[in-house]
Amino acid sequence: MEIASEGRKKILYSAVQPTNNLTIGNYIGAVNNFAALQNDYDCIYAIANMHAITVRQEPAALRRNTLALLAFYIACGIDPEKCTLYLQSHVSAHAELAWVLNTFTYVGEMERMTQFKDKSAKHADNINMGLMDYPVLMAADILLYQTDVVPVGVDQRQHLEITRDIAARFNNAYSPTFTLPEGLYVKVGAKINDLLDPLKKMSKSSENPNGVVFVNDDRDAIIKKFKRAVTDSGAEIKYDPAAKPGVSNLLSIYSVFTGKSVEECENEFSGCGYGQFKLAVGEAVADKLIPIQTEQARLLADKQYLDDVLKTGAERAAARANKTLAKVYKKIGFYRF
Ligand code: TYM
Repeated sequence: MEIASEGRKKILYSAVQPTNNLTIGNYIGAVNNFAALQNDYDCIYAIANMHAITVRQEPAALRRNTLALLAFYIACGIDPEKCTLYLQSHVSAHAELAWVLNTFTYVGEMERMTQFKDKSAKHADNINMGLMDYPVLMAADILLYQTDVVPVGVDQRQHLEITRDIAARFNNAYSPTFTLPEGLYVKVGAKINDLLDPLKKMSKSSENPNGVVFVNDDRDAIIKKFKRAVTDSGAEIKYDPAAKPGVSNLLSIYSVFTGKSVEECENEFSGCGYGQFKLAVGEAVADKLIPIQTEQARLLADKQYLDDVLKTGAERAAARANKTLAKVYKKIGFYRF
């Protein structure tokens, strides 16, 4: 159990955007870990649909992807009784706190964010204010719940650092209001790379879907994608991300999907060829994902249950978030009756 100094369980917060299908990068860097953490922490998990609209979404697809992500969370073992599981747009405090935090954030800081620069290049026809403001909304998400710990992939490290900066700035300007959160990164797989370009992050929006394994891919597609994965020169199956990025990426994936350490995986494949290795990785991934997909489909057929989870989650989340928001409004001088 992770206990904070006041004797309560530490508060843990994370979110995923309901855009497209999730990739095994999202699974390994984030969701797989969420269920494992739920006994040790007071966990709050959101579906970040307000972040999702910073890139244009088709409304019906956004609605569908929202329920699909909720069902995926639960299928991966997140227990809605133990955790607070909710949809970001159901708790208006997120938008409200983000507005206040905007006044504690500098334009130059946002312009320097790596993800903003990457996404601006990718969506040059739609560099909207929301895209730039994305990290402030993320800061609001985290700070509303007095979060101690945020489990995310390493691509979110910069956003977490700016969250701490904004929180510290507000605390210094008034009095201690927000907890400064720490990032929590998985030891193996905090950055899963593209199977065809192992120097690049595996991303939902990659131009070539053959390098990306989606959590909803069927068994044949998964195995085919791993068979085609780029390996490295030399025949050895060794974890060495600098010299062997392709093989190291596959070893990380295999390690997470089998629960074996990277060293055990290296030993298992010592003397094997790349072909045999890649097939084994594909099979391990498929063996784990297919039952999750079946459970996800079962849950998706029960819309009433999913709606009930969202309703309860929104109530619990709003009650907590509104406490922080009320404190903030008081400190900044918003008049109250
Ligand atoms: P999103 O949906 O882009 O990513 C969800 C999670 O997946 C991780 N991730 C990866 N991990 C390892 N390898 C990869 N290739 C890979 N790709 C993605 C991300 O780091 C993330 O943890 N901005 C967040 C969503 C968010 C959030 C928050 C997170 C909104 N508010 C508050 C934490 C706290 C994001 O990147 O979502």
